[in-house]
Amino acid sequence: MKKSLFLYYTFFLLFASAITHAQQIATGKHAMVVTEQRVASQVGIDILRAGGNAVDAAVAVGYALAVVNPCCGNIGGGGFMLIHLANGKNTVINFREKAPLKAKQNMFLDKNGNLIPDATTIGYLAVGVPGTVMGLNQALQKYGTMTRKQVMAPAIKLAKEGYRVTSFDAKWFSFYAPAFRKQANVAEIFLHDGKPWQAGDLFIQKDLGNTLSLIAEKGTEVFYKGNIAKKIVAASEKNGGILSMKDFANYSVEEMPPIQCSYHGYTIYSVPPPSSGGIAICEMLSVLQHFNLRQSGFHTAASVHDIVESMRYAFNDRNTRLADPDFVHNPITQLLSPSYINSIVTKIRNTKTIPHAGKRLHEHEQTDTTHYSIMDKHGNAVSVTYTINGFFGAKIIADHTGFFLNDTMDDFTAKPGTENKFDLVQQAINDVASHKRPLSSMSPTIVMKNNQPYMILGSPGGPRIITSVLLTLLNVIDYDFNILQAINLPRFHFQGSPDFIEIEPGAFTDVTTLQLKRMGYNIKQIHKWSAVEAILIDPQSKILYGANDNRRPDGAAIGY
Ligand code: GLY
Repeated sequence: MKKSLFLYYTFFLLFASAITHAQQIATGKHAMVVTEQRVASQVGIDILRAGGNAVDAAVAVGYALAVVNPCCGNIGGGGFMLIHLANGKNTVINFREKAPLKAKQNMFLDKNGNLIPDATTIGYLAVGVPGTVMGLNQALQKYGTMTRKQVMAPAIKLAKEGYRVTSFDAKWFSFYAPAFRKQANVAEIFLHDGKPWQAGDLFIQKDLGNTLSLIAEKGTEVFYKGNIAKKIVAASEKNGGILSMKDFANYSVEEMPPIQCSYHGYTIYSVPPPSSGGIAICEMLSVLQHFNLRQSGFHTAASVHDIVESMRYAFNDRNTRLADPDFVHNPITQLLSPSYINSIVTKIRNTKTIPHAGKRLHEHEQTDTTHYSIMDKHGNAVSVTYTINGFFGAKIIADHTGFFLNDTMDDFTAKPGTENKFDLVQQAINDVASHKRPLSSMSPTIVMKNNQPYMILGSPGGPRIITSVLLTLLNVIDYDFNILQAINLPRFHFQGSPDFIEIEPGAFTDVTTLQLKRMGYNIKQIHKWSAVEAILIDPQSKILYGANDNRRPDGAAIGY
């Protein structure tokens, strides 16, 4: 190794050992569950120990996170579950929300064609028809072994008997207290004598417990055709929304094959449209396979240049060429074809001056989602990312249902060429239409080596999901970091617009920063980051290594 590269590695390994001090890598001989909330990880591992498989555990964790991670875990939103079965089958359960039937292309514009402030993010117009309940229940019915009541029991108990508020909860309860105060039924649950709940408080959610009990007893129907749908529709009608009973009755979950690509001998599976995640990750990896990242070094100006430029092309394609496949053609084969990839590689190699997308250098508010990864003793692996979009979704709860509704309508292109809350500047292909699913960035991913699961990972963070999963893969495959280091090392992100590379503190050395600036890049340190929850399986020993991201210190990897 050249001296300069050696110094880089030494710097980052020291950094990595310092930041991994807070959380240990978890090991397991049989099974592993990693989530952002220790209590939810324990729920998953208990289900596995009780004889459930990875899908049983994934459904139990999905419902548990709806209780113990109220900002992001949910039954009022949607997402994607990627399943690898021990028999070799790989499949995706798409439970992404759909726009209401009455949704229209220009529904978020005023009569002058301007965006109506906050309409896509707050209140009932922001809400897509939730998919989580149908998605989890269908996954359980088709691939699980336990009953709905068995896997929902821990979530119901946590809601009715309470759980201890975490430091992460407390931070965001406090931040969003002004929003909670605006809705009496939200304030009743999420404020305590008018003040935010504190870390360590016992937080009981009776309404949510009753809703979950109803789902456990009566099944999917009660959510989509029964009392829960009725309450949401009534609240929507009362508050200027457009949700109808027909929306819920017509909602469907789809099963689809994953997106697949290879990178240095590994096979990557991730999710297809209506998420852009799988295609973007595969496009970037296919490009980067042509560059020797290992040789150019970890977070050197040379390697960052190649990675950032791959991000530029992937995000441009994401924002202009992808959307719900039930409505538009997604040119998947073309985007991942060798000729297209080669054309990007050639352009990157010839990039002498950095193209600038514009002068926009500001950024939007914090947003979130949640990811969890599970592997069972049979060799089944499940990777789930689901969301209500922003923290606490649209900041509304219908009546006494007890759960936040999503603001996923913001993931559509409300007006071509304008940015959404993730700063994504999307085009008309992803415009709002009746019953259409908005384009997502969620990227639950499973990496295979010699046809065996090698890594299970994913992240929250809107577009940062895509780049966080990418960097984690590069950290393991190209740079030989262990899984905990790989997820905890400071990250960078680039999506074309805003026109800067976002970095976490410590992501680049001064030398790298200086060289990148000389190349023409804008660089900005920001504080909103994703959190990768990952499992790595050692191909020889078969030991499972679980890693929870230090950015979510209340999370945990638990194995046995
Ligand atoms: N709601 C964020 C995403 O799906 O990308």
